[in-house]
Amino acid sequence: MTIRIAQISDTHLSPEKPFFRENFDKIAESLRDSRPDLVLNTGDLALDGADHEADLVEARAAHDSLGLEWHALPGNHDVGDHLDVARRQPVNAARLERYRSVFGPDCWSLDVPGWRLLGLNALTLGLDLAGAADQEMLVRDAVADLGGRSLAIFLHKPLMDETYEEDLASNRFTTKGPRQKLLAALGSVTPALIACGHVHQYRDTLVAGTRHIWAPATSFMISDPWQPGYGVKAVGYVEHAFEADGSFSHRLVGVRGLVHHDLASYPEAYGDVRAWGPGNA
Ligand SMILES: [Fe+2]
Ligand SMILES: [Fe+2]
Repeated sequence: MTIRIAQISDTHLSPEKPFFRENFDKIAESLRDSRPDLVLNTGDLALDGADHEADLVEARAAHDSLGLEWHALPGNHDVGDHLDVARRQPVNAARLERYRSVFGPDCWSLDVPGWRLLGLNALTLGLDLAGAADQEMLVRDAVADLGGRSLAIFLHKPLMDETYEEDLASNRFTTKGPRQKLLAALGSVTPALIACGHVHQYRDTLVAGTRHIWAPATSFMISDPWQPGYGVKAVGYVEHAFEADGSFSHRLVGVRGLVHHDLASYPEAYGDVRAWGPGNA
């Protein structure tokens, strides 16, 4: 039995700034046709959910309109950024509460045949904030009775660029302290897959026995030189196929008619990326 999971990411929806809604609607149409068993959004559901509840509400309604089972995880534009790297909109209790009131739990565990899927809030990892300790307990409990299941972790930010030991002060990746805390909570368990979004690029690497797959955004990419290329700059989504024997595969899915928006063309969204410098986008 194969479980097909469509991982969409970085939808960046907003009723006031609906720049990326048409792409979402095209992908929604494609999902309604292909009917995966589950849709997972790995965060940045909203364009500015950290400060505008209406953006969160819009994103929730858009996902409800899929007519499919779906689960979401928060991104930095939904609950604010991790305190290790936040320059503006730091994650805090009020922002987390607003997210949870619209989307429900910000971390979850879900079993499908042969697999345990663990969805984590990347923005509270290792922090002393409401719900962060519960999340660590969720991870410890999930690996304690894993049995023969394979483990797949979903979260917004990549766990790292190249190695678990690197120490980059970048908002593009999980920072070293929170990463080490997560790895400690996993104990001797090596996840088969860690899947994320956030960078708005598709990438597939194998690090320390774990496959790390970055889903592209449905919304926009950020062109050179405003953001370095780590993988493929495109819009689309990833479809995972999980087998009951613990094996898995995935494919990058493009949808006819998607517009490969460049954030540099939408200063109304987050300001002028050309003024940010190449290290920040
Ligand atoms: Fe994003
Ligand atoms: Fe993000």
